[in-house]
Amino acid sequence: MKTHRWFWVASALLLGCAPDAPGSSNYEAVADVQELMLTVLEPAAEAYWDAVGWIIDETGEQEIAPANPEEWEAVRNAAFVIAESGNLLMMDSRALDQTSWIAMSKAMVQVGRTAIEAAEARDKNAVFDAGAEVYYVCTACHATYALGTLRPNDERAN
Ligand code: HEC
Repeated sequence: MKTHRWFWVASALLLGCAPDAPGSSNYEAVADVQELMLTVLEPAAEAYWDAVGWIIDETGEQEIAPANPEEWEAVRNAAFVIAESGNLLMMDSRALDQTSWIAMSKAMVQVGRTAIEAAEARDKNAVFDAGAEVYYVCTACHATYALGTLRPNDERAN
């Protein structure tokens, strides 16, 4: 009977989609941790760090700061990527353990929030300070899990 066959097809589809264990999820990680660093977190952090600064040379002090609403928006967007990256790092396939790794990933979310607030307030000093906080979290995690990457914005020798 036709309805019968459809029942089995539908059941098979449902079974195929069902989570295989409690706590497992439907996420499908695309990047490994290294790729996530290089393609998502590092570019966003660089954009954030580069947004504000002061250069002192023979001509005096020059200020680097977003010059218009679009540039401020780009800083804000980078901060959102930083914050959400903390969540991406906590995904099961990426988390190297359930203790320090999770704590540092959560710290990334928190400093990301601070970075977002600073950008939304269009507060140059606050963006500068939030950038430093972000940097501490990067280096803290690298000090534990990636000793070769202690200072993420160093020029890589290659
Ligand atoms: C929760 C831990 C954690 C946090 C937080 C973290 N990283 Fe990483 N990072 C790693 C690990 C682990 C590696 C080594 C990955 C590998 O090579 O497999 C790494 C590697 C890197 C690399 C080197 C990639 C390569 O092989 O060339 C860069 C660049 C990097 N991280 C940037 C950052 C920046 C920027 C931040 C902060 C905005 C940050 N990371 C925060 C864990 C972290």
